[in-house]
Amino acid sequence: MSVALIVLAAGKGTRMNSDLPKVLHPIAGEAMLIHAIAAGGALDPARVVVVAGHEADAVRKAALAFDPETQVVLQAEQLGTAHAVAQAAPALDGFEGDAVVLYGDTPLIRPETLARMAEARARHDVVVLGFEAADPGRYGRLVMAGDVLERIVEFKDATEAERAITLCNSGVVMAAAPVLFDLVEAVGNDNAAGEYYLTDIVALARAAGLSATAVTCEEGETLGVNSRTELSRAEAAFQTRARAEALETGVTLQAPETVHFARDTWVGRDAVIEPYVIFGPGVTVESGAHIRAFSHLEGCHVSRGAVVGPYARLRPGTELSEDVRIGNFVEVKNALIAEAAKVNHLSYIGDAEIGERSNIGAGTITCNYDGVMKHRTTIGRGVFIGSDTMLVAPVSVGDGAMTASGSVITRDVEAGALALGRARQENKRGFATRFFEKLRALKAQKTKGE
Ligand code: UD1
Ligand code: CA
Repeated sequence: MSVALIVLAAGKGTRMNSDLPKVLHPIAGEAMLIHAIAAGGALDPARVVVVAGHEADAVRKAALAFDPETQVVLQAEQLGTAHAVAQAAPALDGFEGDAVVLYGDTPLIRPETLARMAEARARHDVVVLGFEAADPGRYGRLVMAGDVLERIVEFKDATEAERAITLCNSGVVMAAAPVLFDLVEAVGNDNAAGEYYLTDIVALARAAGLSATAVTCEEGETLGVNSRTELSRAEAAFQTRARAEALETGVTLQAPETVHFARDTWVGRDAVIEPYVIFGPGVTVESGAHIRAFSHLEGCHVSRGAVVGPYARLRPGTELSEDVRIGNFVEVKNALIAEAAKVNHLSYIGDAEIGERSNIGAGTITCNYDGVMKHRTTIGRGVFIGSDTMLVAPVSVGDGAMTASGSVITRDVEAGALALGRARQENKRGFATRFFEKLRALKAQKTKGE
């Protein structure tokens, strides 16, 4: 059965007190909207429709950056969740598969939960995701009869007896797309809020002789974000989950609560992550690699046996081969570092390629930017780059060559050569002694005069 995701993301998010639309606030460095879409990825959706409204252009841009196939539709006025879903109908015209309604401000739904909803869909026409609420507050309530979901009642419209129900509505719904759109079409707005409630589709489905049920999940998965406080809670919940998953898969985290993961961080078995390591998006760390304390990694790949940090920064496009060493205060960007090469101290390596077993001396910098354009540095195998070498790109250093410390290398260096690019040293015998004597005498004269 093919699946379409309908992700509601039109709301303003007033309580965020922000210029940024709510669904674009990041968790683990990535917009909540993307977390929601990615969670739906568990259902291998054939189509993704995002319903945007407030700051629709920014929302569209973010959705398309994640997946250019995404369809973004506009809900100009926010008249309610059913009205929002109805805006997706033209985009899914003729789509006969299932539709799942997700929310751009509910980023923590587990893929397994959506898979359980899909299983329940095999037996029921409409499947709603519910949860046992510790504090049911203003959530919609699920009115069950056995495992049949009779209807959902919004808090505002509920009787005292209905308000006593603790099984609450997450908002996530799954049904065949044509059925969903027919039901949504039939929803009216004669209720306490004067809104078109998506929740009304359950009673409408039952009246039409369709079956409905609820699947439940942990309350934490349905955590919706409406304020900065809730955003910080969602971030914490995400990190707790990511750390537990890493430990579960055989990664050593010496101080789990200090390590921050991104949604897509992948760390192999027997890798060691020391305290205070931050992963941005797009990082893969192979089995047995070692990331030392206070390192920051994003958009990079670290191979088996590599050691990174402490205090290293790996930026997008960095590829470390096996057994590479990246030491303290080294920044690497868009660079391929081949097997067993070492960049151990205080260096910037950007837009570069470093061959196998080459050693990059302390303080080396690839001068990759001329103020307008970026240029590449290519270093061969077994090269020795002396400390404090400035490699003014575009430039290349051949296999087995070396540079003298303190050199500014502006021309290509052939294999096996020594490149010297610094002023010749001159020693002036006795100069320092005479100079300091003169200065001291001057100072003595001055103090006498005062
Ligand atoms: C909704 C459910 C409620 C459930 C709760 C869970 C309805 C009527 N009620 O209530 O049963 O317990 O979620 O959090 O569905 N949105 C749009 N366009 C609109 C209206 C809403 O895109 O016209 C988006 C909002 O941005 C938000 C989400 O849909 O992300 C939920 O809407 P909201 O108005 O917050 O619904 P709740 O009152 O929380
Ligand atoms: Ca809400």
